[in-house]
Amino acid sequence: MAHFDPNARPFSHKWMNERLAVDTLQKVLSTEYWIPKNINFLWAMGMILAATFGILLISGIFLLMYYIPDTKQAFDSVNYTVMSEVGYGWLWRHMHGVAASVVFLIIYIHMFTGIYYGSYKKGREMIWLSGMLLFVTFSAEAFSGYMLPWGQMSYWAGMVITNLFSLGSLDFQGLVEWIRGDYVPGQAFLNRFFMLHVLLMPLIIMALIVLHFGTLRIPHVNNQDGEEIDFDAEAQKWKAGLRKESKVIPFNPVFLSKDVFVMSIYFIIYFYLVFYHFEFAMDPVNFDPANPLKTPPHIYPEWYFLWSYEILRPFPKDPGLVAFGFAQVIFFLLPFLDRSPNVAPASRRKPFRCWFWILLVDMIVLTIMGKVPPVGVYTTIGTVAAWVFILLWVTLPIVTKLEKPVRRSK
Ligand code: HEM
Repeated sequence: MAHFDPNARPFSHKWMNERLAVDTLQKVLSTEYWIPKNINFLWAMGMILAATFGILLISGIFLLMYYIPDTKQAFDSVNYTVMSEVGYGWLWRHMHGVAASVVFLIIYIHMFTGIYYGSYKKGREMIWLSGMLLFVTFSAEAFSGYMLPWGQMSYWAGMVITNLFSLGSLDFQGLVEWIRGDYVPGQAFLNRFFMLHVLLMPLIIMALIVLHFGTLRIPHVNNQDGEEIDFDAEAQKWKAGLRKESKVIPFNPVFLSKDVFVMSIYFIIYFYLVFYHFEFAMDPVNFDPANPLKTPPHIYPEWYFLWSYEILRPFPKDPGLVAFGFAQVIFFLLPFLDRSPNVAPASRRKPFRCWFWILLVDMIVLTIMGKVPPVGVYTTIGTVAAWVFILLWVTLPIVTKLEKPVRRSK
């Protein structure tokens, strides 16, 4: 049994230290976690994601106090009870809705930062794979949440997405009905998606965040130049007082203060959206209650799924399904399809630089085309963009094989 000072005042520093080892934690964060100096604000996105997930959890718990998972009452419990009857219910709903939308913007920025700087390469494959698992579970979390208000888009998007499980001309209707628990989306369907949204997916996400942080421990975070840093040697320099010469900084308080600064700017923008522009995160069609007898003229998912939806849409049924499946899994394979050993920013990796920018622009085009009705020139642009996406990934091993060794800067 450890020694306890009987005279220590409850909750004083000494009292806490004897029970929670706060000094040890502070020491570990200040002397054992080292971060490269040469990283920019894009490296704050990971912490911003963790903080936004925290907001989603807290606002979700408040919404859960009034939400009723019943097909006859769900719509009113959200649109009437929470919005008009519960004090500040509107605030929790706006915070939840806006966070659910911006979290995807930050996820995409975080992913593309990783692609640009080659942070998925040798030694960092597990960081990438655990990140991709987070992307998939966040997608399932967002989709299941979208079902809960039981509006027109909840119902019809639920119908369209679960229909995909009939696997095209294989016509596995049994699988679709098994998932829905009925012939069409109904009470069993709502119960299941409610359980997924408030319990199973958040649990999996929390476990995956712990895993994702764990995967960063040994390879350390990458840096803007892709430089291989000897963290132990550089940390010694810092400890010896050679702070200018050292290539690393301690996590606490030096790097943390930078993270908190970027996060504060993010929160100013986030709360501006919550108070003044929350409507961008809410589809007007979903303010009509679900009506199984009235199909909306144009069914589309939320903006963050539009690019993969547009890869499905231009093709006939079966090839469309294959292309959609391809889009879902291909990002997982990035560390293995990139055949170049260079860890460097895309700006210094010649053919890959073009590959990266074409991919980014192509996904933006796919997103825009996924939103507009599939008519006339939009169909043509959508089809071309879908083919470009597929070809980019098929040619990635060749593009990266052609790459010359990159000279280190300095
Ligand atoms: C959604 C929840 C996520 C959270 C909370 C999260 C958190 C973090 C944090 C804190 C870091 C270290 C600092 C930084 O680079 O930002 C990081 C790094 C990283 N994450 Fe995530 N991440 C998430 C999702 C993803 C996704 C979807 C991917 C892409 C597949 C991904 C890939 C990476 C990579 C490659 C790194 C290493 C960056 C480097 O070494 O420079 N993460 N993540």
